[in-house]
Amino acid sequence: MAISVEENGRLFNLHTEDSTYQMYADECGVLLHTYYGKRTEGENLTGLIYQADVGFSGNPEEAAGNREYSLDCLPQELPSDGVGDYRESCISLLHEDGSMAADFRFEGYEIFPYSYKVEGMPALYDNGEETGETLVITMREKASNAAVRLFYGVFEKENIITRAVRVENRGKSGIVLAKCLSCCLDYQFGEYDLITFAGRHVMERTPERSRIRRTKLEVGSLRGTSSHQYNPSVILCAPETTEDSGECYGMCLAYSGNFTACAQKDQRGQTRALMGIHPEKFSFRLGEGDAFDAPQVILGYSDSGFAKLSQQYHKILREHMCRGKYQYTKRPVLLNSWEATYFDFNKEKLVALAELAADLGIEMLVLDDGWFGKRDDDNSGLGDWYVNEKKLGGSLKELGERIHGLGLKFGLWFEPEMVSEDSDLYRAHPDWALQIPGREPNRGRNQLVLDMSREDVRDYLYGRLADIVENAGIDYVKWDMNRSICDIYSHQYAGSRNGEVYHRFVLGVYDLMERFLNRFPDILLEGCSGGGGRFDAGMLYYSPQIWCSDNTDAVNRLEIQYGTSFFYPLSSMGSHVSAVPNHQTGRVTPFRTRGHVALSGSFGYELDLNKISEEEKAMVREQIKDFRRYDSLIREGDYYRLAAPGGRFCAWEFVDGKKEHALQILVMTSAEGNPLPVHTVVKGLLPDKNYRCSENGRAYSGKTWMGAGLTLHAVPKEYESVLIEWEMVDR
Ligand code: DGJ
Repeated sequence: MAISVEENGRLFNLHTEDSTYQMYADECGVLLHTYYGKRTEGENLTGLIYQADVGFSGNPEEAAGNREYSLDCLPQELPSDGVGDYRESCISLLHEDGSMAADFRFEGYEIFPYSYKVEGMPALYDNGEETGETLVITMREKASNAAVRLFYGVFEKENIITRAVRVENRGKSGIVLAKCLSCCLDYQFGEYDLITFAGRHVMERTPERSRIRRTKLEVGSLRGTSSHQYNPSVILCAPETTEDSGECYGMCLAYSGNFTACAQKDQRGQTRALMGIHPEKFSFRLGEGDAFDAPQVILGYSDSGFAKLSQQYHKILREHMCRGKYQYTKRPVLLNSWEATYFDFNKEKLVALAELAADLGIEMLVLDDGWFGKRDDDNSGLGDWYVNEKKLGGSLKELGERIHGLGLKFGLWFEPEMVSEDSDLYRAHPDWALQIPGREPNRGRNQLVLDMSREDVRDYLYGRLADIVENAGIDYVKWDMNRSICDIYSHQYAGSRNGEVYHRFVLGVYDLMERFLNRFPDILLEGCSGGGGRFDAGMLYYSPQIWCSDNTDAVNRLEIQYGTSFFYPLSSMGSHVSAVPNHQTGRVTPFRTRGHVALSGSFGYELDLNKISEEEKAMVREQIKDFRRYDSLIREGDYYRLAAPGGRFCAWEFVDGKKEHALQILVMTSAEGNPLPVHTVVKGLLPDKNYRCSENGRAYSGKTWMGAGLTLHAVPKEYESVLIEWEMVDR
């Protein structure tokens, strides 16, 4: 059993293969967090807790005068608020009498031999033989009728522990939940760094590493989505941790809306890290019998560096978060019309593109923005999900038939959550948009946001999407979302429960996606929010691939895909070969390099095939062969970051599950005269087996390759790339 309970139901150990997470409900009923780290035998580690009389850190009544017992100093699972723990809390309550206090004590526990679900939200699920286990600990508020159920999931082999929180109002008087974070990690000892993934539109998820001190470190989003600016995933690690050594912990939120992730040392040098829905612009009213569910945090632990941590996340997200037919089915190589035509297309143009695509071995044409309503630029038409047959020169069904007739699949772009003021939908239902009466709304891309918390809005969208997808025989949907959300005011709640709207918006999006996928289980959904503005574990529950960034420049993509790879599997990263000069940066890179970079994600093209040379067309055919040849190795193998972007070159490697085959890709990112050698390390081979390297034909033992590495004798020129393989041989 991965979960063990001892000492009269008060000591809880969650064991994975390499880690142990321990809690103890002490004599005061406080749920202590006693340990998270390398696997132990489950011994009671409350002895690690050092207690002392700390001035200005008070004592709860149950401590019976013991001045060494203070909530302000103890490591806890559900830190109280307003009753003596002055550090960041997990949960805040506002009671009907106006008081603000949340003081939870242990009530009981249950264990289930399967994974728990989170109401209305994504969560890791059991997969055939591989099931998780669940521990539920119930905590009771001392002076009100609020109760909290803490859910802990354990995926033993995968080294993953999850946590989610349910708050219940078991009484008659109303309670306002002013804050409800999903997870708190308290570390009593040690120095830690916090790694966050920050960025901006077209430049997402660059790792930033900072020492955790007493000054609070915090990242988050108040944009209604998980955002380009900060990702809802962070790493805590020892200062000396590298790719291959040292302890590290991952915190990854399965949620696509506002979030916070913060870490801080307290007065005694203890580190507290928290993650969950951002408490700003949040409040949730719980009437009698109501409950609130906070999203799941996926915790990972590695005692040997970031590579292993990432591999654990890749596996768990691929196998227990992504769902549906395309979880394992090979993804079609696609051609997306966006950077090929933008808004300027008609049936002839699209069919001509599809014919060329089919001839080159591409398997799907995706018609991006511009096929509906009045939509020749991005100022109008959103919400009017009716095919613009005049622009197209026929129906979408006819176009679909032509495309299918060429042996291609047919994909279509939608942006369901948005509305243009210049649209029939907005003219008919202005109250369906989020906007504050009496204020001019803030416009993003000249569009407003629909109130996805409303069922009537979702019903309309579901009806339109289903009708179009069914009629035109659509095989793939790109679900886009192109602005940040503000002006929070739902006409449905007439403003009185606006603190709930950001969260209800996310629940509404999940609900619509779930309904859509239930109706069309074979559709491949690709998530997108101006590229990677909603690249999070929650979205992977619905869309096994997400357009990684609107930046298709191969060199910028090295950074973006590098940062994304710390948590998210390569199979989830939408990555396309596009034209040069690149539309976002103006940079010119070789076609081959663009292919190698796109190959390390869910592969496709996004350029006008009429404009590429015969030589490049031949390369497309070769690249598609490579994509098929390396498909499982790249998308299911173990991934290693070898050389980070920012140096002379960037390199990474894949090793298959049996460790018989490895593949390295290296891109030169700067050039110099009289170049110095390029030397790479090799990782993940079996030390006692022999491997032949495609670069120099030599066969050495895995041990030798991993110790000595490889020198490239022809140093690639700027932006050139090389692809090197190692095959296991008898020698
Ligand atoms: C933003 C997306 O990321 C692009 O790929 C494209 O679909 C545009 N939106 C279309 O408006």
